[in-house]
Amino acid sequence: MTQNVLVVDFGAQYAQLIARRVREAHVYSEIVQHTITADEVRAKAPAAIILSGGPKSVYEVPAPSLDPAIYELGIPVLGICYGAQLMAQQLGGEVAHTGNGEYGRTTVTRHGSSVLMHEWPTSVTCWMSHGDAISLAPDGFVVTGSSPEAPVAVMEDVTRRLHAVQFHPEVAHTEQGQALLVNFLHHVAEIPPTWTNTSIIEDQVAAIRAQVGDEKVLCALSGGVDSAVAAALVTKAVGTQLTCVFVDTGLMRKNEGEQIEATFTRQFGVELIHVKAQDRFFDALAGVTDPEAKRKIIGELFIREFETVARDLGKGGDGPRFLVQGTLYPDVIESGSGHAANIKSHHNVGGLPEDLSFELVEPLRSLFKDEVRHIGEELGLPGDIVWRQPFPGPGLGVRIVGEVTRERAEILRNADYVVVDEIKKAGLYRELWQSFAVLPAVRTVGVMGDGRTYAYPIIIRAVTSDDAMTADWARLPYDVIESIANRLIREVDGVNRVALDVTSKPPGTIEWE
Ligand code: XMP
Repeated sequence: MTQNVLVVDFGAQYAQLIARRVREAHVYSEIVQHTITADEVRAKAPAAIILSGGPKSVYEVPAPSLDPAIYELGIPVLGICYGAQLMAQQLGGEVAHTGNGEYGRTTVTRHGSSVLMHEWPTSVTCWMSHGDAISLAPDGFVVTGSSPEAPVAVMEDVTRRLHAVQFHPEVAHTEQGQALLVNFLHHVAEIPPTWTNTSIIEDQVAAIRAQVGDEKVLCALSGGVDSAVAAALVTKAVGTQLTCVFVDTGLMRKNEGEQIEATFTRQFGVELIHVKAQDRFFDALAGVTDPEAKRKIIGELFIREFETVARDLGKGGDGPRFLVQGTLYPDVIESGSGHAANIKSHHNVGGLPEDLSFELVEPLRSLFKDEVRHIGEELGLPGDIVWRQPFPGPGLGVRIVGEVTRERAEILRNADYVVVDEIKKAGLYRELWQSFAVLPAVRTVGVMGDGRTYAYPIIIRAVTSDDAMTADWARLPYDVIESIANRLIREVDGVNRVALDVTSKPPGTIEWE
């Protein structure tokens, strides 16, 4: 059985990063709120608990707290930053408002032997971010590390298996940070490193089989990573019961439909219904220029197309009962403030028509994006699908400013292909969050050969980001910009000028509409 580590969230984004680092150590982790009770923890029977950092001071009212009975359960606990201070305060130690915080790289000195800092040099650079500091460790703890402003930077009670560090081991700037987490998980908590791509796939395949039995399953493929990996998992579990649907809206990337057919029909042998709905989308979008109106038309029409397929399959009474969704873990967890990080689903094309009353199969519900990509590779999906940058549900529709027509979609599709192709050739595709072309609603004058042209400009948009909430424009090398521009003018009919978007988010958005 998979052993579980609970990461207790005290706010901010620290818990997610810790949970990912734990999984990189091949141990399953789950994020829980700090309001969890000792009884609830006991019911989950975790093999260890990690208390995350948080944006508050233990002196703030109200400061997020933890049921102190959790320390009595005999489960190994690691407190980090705020979690360390809270542990010290709750167990009878002292936390002082020193007025001298530490922010950024700080040297931590080890004192004597330490289970957490096993085989560390005497001093190590660690990432700190604290205003208060533990000034007195509780009874039973040995102080094994300190920094200039944190006399108790590391404290350990080996008997009770309670440990705390003031610095952030989950941050890459902390040398040996991952080694510390690994020590805690594998040696202190004695959890075997069994959470691997293979075990994830085996567990999910078993879970899907148990859930769907011999019923039929439907899956909408969007061309994106999540739906493709979810479908590949279901294929492995119950391939003969699965029907995939790919609705071509006319606003997909170049070769997207062919690639999906090649992978799912020819490689995996799955039944695929390829709905060629381009004409209906272009007809519905004719004359519409308002961005929200365009999104709405695309979203509603997508659902109608999908419904038609689902109803046709259901004629005769033995249609699919289950629908696969590529929901990921960050879509379902709540942050410390209690709000689900529900950024994606609200405007995603592929949204579920509620009156179809399917039961959902969500095999990626406990996974982070990087895990999804790795198991996609292991399942044999092509790298082109698995490492794809995010693509908006309404597709090229949100990158065509003004009216979306068949001709303008074709110009943008060809331009997008050139941008992505050159970015890939330059080895930048995986580093960038997104890189694509935008088609504005103006035409400008140019000269080509002896003739005057009046054609569209293409805007190159390339950004770096961690989560799409904020983004920076990518400093592409000049020679890459040059080759993109040359090819756009040469290869894409209808384009005579190229511009580069140098706007960050905020104030800009990543997409243009
Ligand atoms: P913005 O443009 O808001 O985009 O900075 C943030 C991220 O969301 C994607 N995006 C969408 N995804 N439906 C989607 O599924 C949409 O309507 C949509 N609009 C933007 C965008 O590509 C970026 O990754």
